[in-house]
Amino acid sequence: MTKNIMEYEVPKIRIENGAFKKIPTHVGKYSTKFTIITDGHIKKLGNDLLSAMRKFGLSCNLIILPPGEHTKSISFAEKIATHLVHLGNKRDSCLIALGGGVIGDLTGFMASIFMRGINYVSVPTTMLAMCDSCIGGKTGVDLPEGKNLLGTFYNPKEVIIDPLLVTSLPDKQIKIGMAEVIKHAVLADAQFFKFLNRNTTAILSKKPTVLKQTIAKSVQIKLSIVKKDGREMLQNTQKDVSRMLLNYGHTVGHALEKLSKFELSHGEAIAIGMVAENRIAVGKKLLKEVDAVKIESLIKKFGLPTKMPSQYSPAQLKTAMGMDKKHIDGKLFFALPLGIGKAKIMHV
Ligand SMILES: NC(=O)c1ccc[n+]([C@@H]2O[C@H](COP(=O)([O-])OP(=O)(O)OC[C@H]3O[C@@H](n4cnc5c(N)ncnc54)[C@H](O)[C@@H]3O)[C@@H](O)[C@H]2O)c1
Repeated sequence: MTKNIMEYEVPKIRIENGAFKKIPTHVGKYSTKFTIITDGHIKKLGNDLLSAMRKFGLSCNLIILPPGEHTKSISFAEKIATHLVHLGNKRDSCLIALGGGVIGDLTGFMASIFMRGINYVSVPTTMLAMCDSCIGGKTGVDLPEGKNLLGTFYNPKEVIIDPLLVTSLPDKQIKIGMAEVIKHAVLADAQFFKFLNRNTTAILSKKPTVLKQTIAKSVQIKLSIVKKDGREMLQNTQKDVSRMLLNYGHTVGHALEKLSKFELSHGEAIAIGMVAENRIAVGKKLLKEVDAVKIESLIKKFGLPTKMPSQYSPAQLKTAMGMDKKHIDGKLFFALPLGIGKAKIMHV
């Protein structure tokens, strides 16, 4: 049967405290030769996984990259590819992305193009990666002109989420990840929004049961959106199901990330972006002021910024937004909330 290009093929997803230790028992079916790709901040995790894989009898190597958004580039993709060739990788090899969104996007991109596509497994280690970027099959690298301008849709064979891995994560990174989680709640689930309000302290203090619930719900919401529109093909014609809904906060957010030369993290930039885009929604009478206030309060409660940095002029912001992918027929599209738990796509 012909596969529908719109479909998102949901990979196997495990969300389990302690799943990290069991990785070798799960991945053997995908290859006999593995390369873990990780970054320098979590090289201990990388070395632990490397030892566990080898102890289990699997051939495995480890590539450690510099941490940070600048690694998500075509020059690092080329370096990885060269290294993979020298390590003897072939079409039946498998990559393991062990890290945050940067490592996940870059490794997924590499898996999609190396020898025209090889298997990979995603092991997210940040709150953002567990709750958001490991789901949906978007891979990519940045160009100096803008974020994620080169990329593919490509799914890992399996996503293995161990919520306990975030215990080593700096508090700031938990907050950053929560920006995408709040986004999911605003887009699709008013009950989850209330849950986040009730459990802010438990989440920020990394209480394992609450973290696992938060991650599982966020994954479920993201899946429910991407499933209907695997390749972001449903654009302005089918506003209520389009994957573009996930861009809430991102039209302004990506522009801010770029203007700040990535001094502002992705999560911080989209937190400000959600508040800014709410103003558009209130202005267009799509969103009630009272709901805009509730969203801003929750963002603040998680310690995320909400104010537009004063050093960027509206003209600079507009130019930066103009480089974004969210242009269709010359119009810039926004995903705007209609309340808490519902949103739509529109051009402004
Ligand atoms: N593909 C998608 O659908 C999607 C969605 C959202 C964001 N993204 C991308 O994700 C990226 C941001 O991801 P991120 O916020 O995870 O950033 P990141 O990958 O840079 O990780 C943040 C920091 O945390 C460190 N780290 C990772 N795991 C750790 C752990 N367990 N303990 C201690 N430190 C750890 C990293 O070394 C890094 O310094 C951006 O490039 C963004 O564009 C992609």
